[in-house]
Amino acid sequence: MNPKDSTGKRRPDRWSPVSQLLHWATLALIVWLAWRGLTMVDMPNTPAKINAYALHKSLGLTLLALVVVRLAWRLLARAPRPVTGTPAWQERIASLTHVGLYVLLLAMPLSGWLFNSASGYPLQWFKQFNLPAIAGRDTALAELAVNVHRWGFWLLVLLVALHAGAALYHHFVQRDDTLLRMLPRAPGGKQRPAPTSDLNN
Ligand code: HEM
Ligand code: HEM
Repeated sequence: MNPKDSTGKRRPDRWSPVSQLLHWATLALIVWLAWRGLTMVDMPNTPAKINAYALHKSLGLTLLALVVVRLAWRLLARAPRPVTGTPAWQERIASLTHVGLYVLLLAMPLSGWLFNSASGYPLQWFKQFNLPAIAGRDTALAELAVNVHRWGFWLLVLLVALHAGAALYHHFVQRDDTLLRMLPRAPGGKQRPAPTSDLNN
């Protein structure tokens, strides 16, 4: 059953293919950006380092665009109903974690862009076009932005670990649909039967 939301419309049981694609593409980009970011800073000063930075920035900006699309899609398409049987306190923690993840998904590329601008470097997207500076040259601001970028990254790692851990806990311990509904349905595959409690979510 799909209970109705506050506008009286039925809410889906699963995340749509678009939401799934945006979710897993975000994970793939984050993993690559983290690897590139952490390894590029210690590279010797060669053209390879310049290319690594350029690619990190271009893909970071791509992620920023993806997050904007994802947030717009999130507002347009209704999120699925809460998984049946999940206690309200768990729903609240999950929602807070998701808000934190969205905030960091915006803060990471924006702090990178701010650092780039305040350091006085030009910014290009895959050598296709230039992006404007979002701040004037300012050493103190550049220092602040790079610290937000560095510490924000470790906070993101922490939240993603909690978030992914919770998803795996739901899947393997609580054995509910939380993870399955963020994955494409296997051919002929079925949802797990819902527990009987809390059907009025
Ligand atoms: C979600 C997107 C992004 C992630 C996850 C990410 C991640 C990282 C990480 C992990 C580092 C290494 C930090 C360190 O230990 O020093 C780094 C460095 C850096 N990032 Fe990003 N980044 C993202 C987007 C961007 C964007 C969009 C830009 C620029 C427009 C950018 C510019 C930089 C620069 C210039 C550095 C080097 C900082 C330094 O010199 O220490 N990043 N990034
Ligand atoms: C192995 C890693 C990951 C796993 C197993 C995972 C799993 C999931 C699952 C199962 C959901 C749906 C939860 C529900 O239906 O209530 C979800 C939602 C979500 N995930 Fe992930 N995820 C992972 C990585 C990430 C990453 C890297 C990010 C972002 C940095 C992220 C951000 C989100 C957000 C924001 C939502 C909420 C969607 C919304 O309400 O708009 N996830 N994730």
